[in-house]
Formats: sequence, structure tokens, C-alpha cells
Amino acid sequence: MTSVTIGPATLYLGDAYTIRPMLGWMDADIFDPPYLINASGGGHYRKRRPNFDRMVAEDLHKGFDISIINPLQCGAVVVFASNNQLAELLPLLAGSFHRHALCVWQKVNPQPIANKAYRTDCEFYVHAWHHGHHPAGDVSQKLRVRRFASPRGADRFEHPTCKPEALMASIMDNIAGETICDAFMGSGTTGVAAVRAGKRFFGIEHNPAHFETACLRIRDAWAEMEALAA
Ligand SMILES: C[S@@+](CC[C@H](N)C(=O)[O-])C[C@H]1O[C@@H](n2cnc3c(N)ncnc32)[C@H](O)[C@@H]1O
Repeated sequence: MTSVTIGPATLYLGDAYTIRPMLGWMDADIFDPPYLINASGGGHYRKRRPNFDRMVAEDLHKGFDISIINPLQCGAVVVFASNNQLAELLPLLAGSFHRHALCVWQKVNPQPIANKAYRTDCEFYVHAWHHGHHPAGDVSQKLRVRRFASPRGADRFEHPTCKPEALMASIMDNIAGETICDAFMGSGTTGVAAVRAGKRFFGIEHNPAHFETACLRIRDAWAEMEALAA
């Protein structure tokens, strides 16, 4: 297992299901795992969605094993999930945490594609917490609907499902405590938000190219923080 330390961040190149249990207690786990998505079909619009094909090529459409969420190892969790895994996820979180809230990232620039279903104009995440780890922030920050654009072009950092930095920064405002783990780190967006928020960050990613991107982005974020402090 390769690990890299950058200021307050420790990044692991390897398997989330093996490494996360070894890291022990975190104030919060933030999971942005592969979504469970029906990747068949798409009709003639499919040709206009090369990013979707890339997502399938990287196996990012097969969902995740929710047993990686361990309520005994964290104070709170934020879990992104597709429509198709919410029915499995919500009873687990409702039964093992004190409270939970279903929240929405509304995309201001959704793809103009619906086929026989709906446009992918929003994504869901659930914030669940134990006593003492309730959502942080003031009333203006405690919103369950966040409106941000989906990254395009260079803001995607060559990752097919990169989250917007502004979204992860606003979620970070609601995270209580100091230690954050993202076991499906991707290009490192959660890590960038965590370092900018002054948290200790632990990230895991098994794709070497995305791991390298995460290292570069988090190194830049830490350099920004050091320059501000100087
Ligand atoms: C939805 S993406 C995360 C995107 C990230 N939030 C970002 O902004 O770039 C999920 C990531 O989990 C990684 N992944 C999938 N299965 C994994 C596993 N078993 N162990 C570690 N990483 C895994 C994928 O390579 C992918 O980069």
C-alpha cells in the first residue's frame, strides 16, 4: 500500500474496503462512491455523452457495497448515492445513526437528455450523525438543497464524475470535528475542501491516475493555506 502525506492530509493508493477499516475512528466519513446506474441504451444521444462511456469503462456505474459504512467508526457520514441505491441506504443510516437528512445537489447545467426517464438534474446525498456530531454551521449554511454547476472542461480534472469544489466546500461547512475520510477519493475534491477548511484529511483511491491528480490538487490546496498563513 502506497501512502503520501501532504500537510494535514494522508492519501492512500489502494482498495477502500481493505484500507478504510484499518484507519479507525473519523469524525466524519464522506463517501462519493461509484453510483448504481443502468448504463444500457441511451439511443442516439449516447454519442453525445463520451463522458458516460468513460464512466462505464472505469466501472463507475456498478454501485458500492454499503457495508463500508461503519457507524462504530465515525461520528457522522455524508453518502452520495444514485436513486437506485437510496432504498437500500436510507434504512441503514436511519437505523444506525441518531438522525439523518436527505439532501440534494441541484445541477444548474444538467445535460439536455432525458430519454424515457428524467433528466439528471439533481443528485442525492444523505448526512447522518450520532449525538454530538450534528451538522455544523450557521442557519444560512444549513440548507438541504445546494445549487451548483457540474464541472466542465478543465474543472473535471480528467475524472468522469468529479464533484464541484463549491459543492464540497459548502458540505464541509456542515461537518463537525477535525478528521475526515473519503474512501472513494477520485480526483481529490473532498480533500481540497477539507484542507481549505482546516481539517485533517484521509483519502483512498485505487486508480493510479486519479490518485496522482488528487495528490497534485491537495498539494496545491495546502500550499495556498500555507501562503495565507505566512
Ligand atoms: C464517484 S468517484 C469520486 C469522485 C470524486 N468525488 C471527485 O470529485 O473526483 C468514485 C471513485 O472511487 C474510486 N473507487 C471505486 N472503487 C474503489 C475501491 N474499491 N477502492 C478505492 N477507490 C475506488 C474510483 O476510481 C473513482 O475515482
